[in-house]
Amino acid sequence: MCGIVGYIGKNEAAPVLIKGLKKLEYRGYDSAGIAVFGDGIHVVKTKGRLADLDAKVQTMGGVEGHVGIGHTRWATHGAPSDVNSHPHTSMNGRISVVHNGIIENYLQLKAELEEKGYVFASETDTEVVAQLFDYYYDGDMVDTLIRVIGRIRGSYALGILCSEKPDEIVAVRKDSPMLVGIGKNENFIASDIPALLEYTKDYYLLNDNEIVVLKKDGITILDLDKNEIKKDIYNVTWDISAAEKGGYDYFMMKEIMEQPKAFKATISPRIVDGEIKLDNIKYTDEDIKNINRIHIIACGSAWHAAIVGKYVIEDYARIPVEVDLASEFRYRNPILDKNDICIIISQSGETADTLAALREAKRQGIRILAIVNVVGSSIARESDDVLYTWAGPEIAVATTKGYSTQVALMYLLAMKFGQARGYLSAEEVKKLTAELELVPGYIEKLLTMDEELKELAKAHAHANDVFVIGRGIDYAVALEGSLKLKEISYIHSEAYAAGELKHGTISLIEEGTLVVAIATQDPLYEKLVSNVKEVKARGAYVVAIAKEGNTEIAEVADKVIYIPQINDKFTASLNVIPMQIFSYYVAIERGCDVDMPRNLAKSVTVE
Ligand code: AGP
Ligand code: GLU
Repeated sequence: MCGIVGYIGKNEAAPVLIKGLKKLEYRGYDSAGIAVFGDGIHVVKTKGRLADLDAKVQTMGGVEGHVGIGHTRWATHGAPSDVNSHPHTSMNGRISVVHNGIIENYLQLKAELEEKGYVFASETDTEVVAQLFDYYYDGDMVDTLIRVIGRIRGSYALGILCSEKPDEIVAVRKDSPMLVGIGKNENFIASDIPALLEYTKDYYLLNDNEIVVLKKDGITILDLDKNEIKKDIYNVTWDISAAEKGGYDYFMMKEIMEQPKAFKATISPRIVDGEIKLDNIKYTDEDIKNINRIHIIACGSAWHAAIVGKYVIEDYARIPVEVDLASEFRYRNPILDKNDICIIISQSGETADTLAALREAKRQGIRILAIVNVVGSSIARESDDVLYTWAGPEIAVATTKGYSTQVALMYLLAMKFGQARGYLSAEEVKKLTAELELVPGYIEKLLTMDEELKELAKAHAHANDVFVIGRGIDYAVALEGSLKLKEISYIHSEAYAAGELKHGTISLIEEGTLVVAIATQDPLYEKLVSNVKEVKARGAYVVAIAKEGNTEIAEVADKVIYIPQINDKFTASLNVIPMQIFSYYVAIERGCDVDMPRNLAKSVTVE
């Protein structure tokens, strides 16, 4: 979590840092701060949003200097407060540090430093880095950083300023993202591209423990033995407007609306004359035939996309699929066979648990296929094969287009594997891909239900509990719909397999409880109608989602939202749309900050 920006160059640093941090605020937003080198290092930091920091800096009449580092925090160690905000400084004020990640051995290091007379001001793990850097400082920033890296354990992206070095910033990363922006007479470090876009489209990606020495007119990247590393320059392919709200009140609504385009961008280049062409992933038909089992590993919404994947891959390709939460997989000593493969799904490509699960699978010699949105992210780079979801930058904490494009790739993989293993003929794949190509248009149609869903949201904005039920793939979508609602509106919501409700949870249904019943699996439709009757009999208010033409459900449900007729598998891409829009308007109605919900951050780069 958290966003880091560093700047050195011809311009005043403070405005560049604050603007950059604004673009990274989705990564953490409980406090923020900057350290700027003018006549010495000036640190300004505060609990609260970037706007609060900006106001504080304005009241001071600005902070002058052409070198600086900044941070927007998602607290892990110590509550959000002025003193726990970054940058953290060494006791004598010589060293300033911004950090993203967790220093796992900070207590031990803190005790050691306290014995040497260092006094700590904050409760954070990060302060240890500032003090330790000061302790080892010998006049050479790189030598000192190497010694510090040798002592700290955990995950870190660090940006460091020293009051004796007015013309350099040093930085390093391990298991937390960091990019280096290449400018003219100015250079940058940042946790993510949007912070750089106004100034440059050229950047370097850093590998773990690569050290950056950032100067106004030069960037040097070194390994831990101080050998210089030659890096490829990457170019941002999207434009600054892709990372702006473009007239919408919130990024989330903009991203909901972008789903037809994102879905299309993800499938179109991979469907050629009805055949599925999966970029340059190195799987031959023989490889696919030999797959023994697939493990799909992810967190949150990506895990929900994985569950859709399980249903579709098992049905189309008859390969057993296990779906794991990354945080569980990595510690449960998983049993993997050499003919198994892992599919890792992640929008950001930086989720710490997912990355650790990937490494565990790799350690066991398993082939890894990543489904990732952020090009060049850690998960993409560490996998054997990558399929990118071409969703473009996703800023809102609650994913929408990220999830939809992950599901799109699940379909393509399932069909590709199904054909290679002889369960689907070329003719069947052709028919299916033609149907899949209709999905963006259908999503477009569902997006026009905006007003109707807004009204529904108004009527239910004060619900205490919501249950979302479904069977088969509809259950997978129920999980995603329910997460959307709870993460942005803070209404307690649970997704339940509709047939399982009667085994306990139905006791929670009372007069007026909102139940969203997803009923779009043809063979299970009647069963779902019975489940709706069961909750109705206990007083629930039922909103059903059904396919056009399946009107019987209107007789039992209080309201029905119809999606276009489509095959049962692809319904997942349609059912989620009304759930996203409904959740959005409930959150608006309750006065929530849709893009930056409480306690959350976009990219979870800590365990
Ligand atoms: C989705 O709305 C969530 N904010 C969250 O569950 C997210 O999907 C999860 O943290 C995984 O992120 P990733 O796709 O970037 O790995
Ligand atoms: N662990 C540090 C803290 O709690 C950094 C958290 C972050 O990545 O924002 O302050």
